[in-house]
Amino acid sequence: MPKNQNSTSADRQTLIECRSVWKLYGEKAKKVAGKHGQDLTSDILKEEGVISAARNVSFDVNKGEIFVIMGLSGSGKSTMLRCMTGLAEPTLGSLKVKGTDLATASRDELTTIRRHTMGMVFQDFALLPHLSVLDNIAFPLRVQGARKNERLARAREMMALVGLSGRENYWPHELSGGQQQRVGIARSLTTEPDIWFLDEPFSALDPLIRMEMQNEFLRLQNLLHKSIVFVTHDFDEAVRLADRIAIMEGGRVVQIGTPEELIMQPANEYVAEFTEKIPRSKVVRVRTIMGKVQAGLAGAPVNADALVGDVAGKVLDSGDPLPVADETGQIIGAIEARQVAAVLMNLGIAA
Ligand SMILES: Nc1ncnc2c1ncn2[C@@H]1O[C@H](COP(=O)(O)OP(=O)(O)OP(=O)(O)O)[C@@H](O)[C@H]1O
Ligand SMILES: [Mg+2]
Repeated sequence: MPKNQNSTSADRQTLIECRSVWKLYGEKAKKVAGKHGQDLTSDILKEEGVISAARNVSFDVNKGEIFVIMGLSGSGKSTMLRCMTGLAEPTLGSLKVKGTDLATASRDELTTIRRHTMGMVFQDFALLPHLSVLDNIAFPLRVQGARKNERLARAREMMALVGLSGRENYWPHELSGGQQQRVGIARSLTTEPDIWFLDEPFSALDPLIRMEMQNEFLRLQNLLHKSIVFVTHDFDEAVRLADRIAIMEGGRVVQIGTPEELIMQPANEYVAEFTEKIPRSKVVRVRTIMGKVQAGLAGAPVNADALVGDVAGKVLDSGDPLPVADETGQIIGAIEARQVAAVLMNLGIAA
């Protein structure tokens, strides 16, 4: 099932609009951007000694979705996150959050958006070492000026939510890495943000704890239904968590799509290399590989949105094609062993 089942195209609401954003670094960055605008080329940047951390990046983040930004180190992921959260200013292009243009917003408006609309989690946890775990989690509410009782009560709620009750008076250094990041997650949620930004939150954790935290993250999202921008350089993680993934390479977005779209139709070699190792059966849905409805279909229908891996046994066991039903129960296709086998063998779609 898609992680986000709430939004259809009819009720889709855009929370972040990112349009032709460039982020340039170097002494001449502003001057070069002013002179060439969106016509900047690699040659011009090289000649002028300007570094482009983001190059002509456009995308929308929709309400309720998990939007993952994925790419190798240095591809511009954190730069885009910093621009979206108002921590960095795009050199060119525009960024709107909930309809407010970050470039023209007043300082007060920006602060209000940052404090009330956005929650942030960082790779290195960024906890305050001289504050207890409880006070760390309550800290964003202190910045907002909330009363002590209120903020401690809320922080306790958040501690229960991430499974840390009982450790209120620990110092951050007395916790494991996974526990410290739970504190980071709890802290980012205390202000009830609409948009949750996470920059490689699990990269510093070992693989088992990392997987536990990914499950925990999905559990929280099922409860909270936030709109999420999640940065990672790990394609497995991206596929597990994302509704949609934007792949960045050298400051550019080279492809945006669902995990299934990226895996079935990678836009270039760079994307293909990431997708190669992912078992197709864990990503491809029945709908994508099914054939046409045919006469004489019998047996219990297979769900069109089921993952091929989850129904493979049933289809392979049946000697005949099985009917495929959509969410209303209507039969919309047929699936047979040959199509399933092609996916299981990572061969793509059987003709
Ligand atoms: N303040 C800065 N001054 C100059 N160059 C910068 C600055 N910040 C980022 N860059 C450059 O911009 C590029 C993109 O950096 P960014 O931090 O966005 O990458 P990233 O995809 O988040 O990488 P990582 O996975 O290592 O965190 C890099 O080449 C980096 O060196
Ligand atoms: Mg980064």
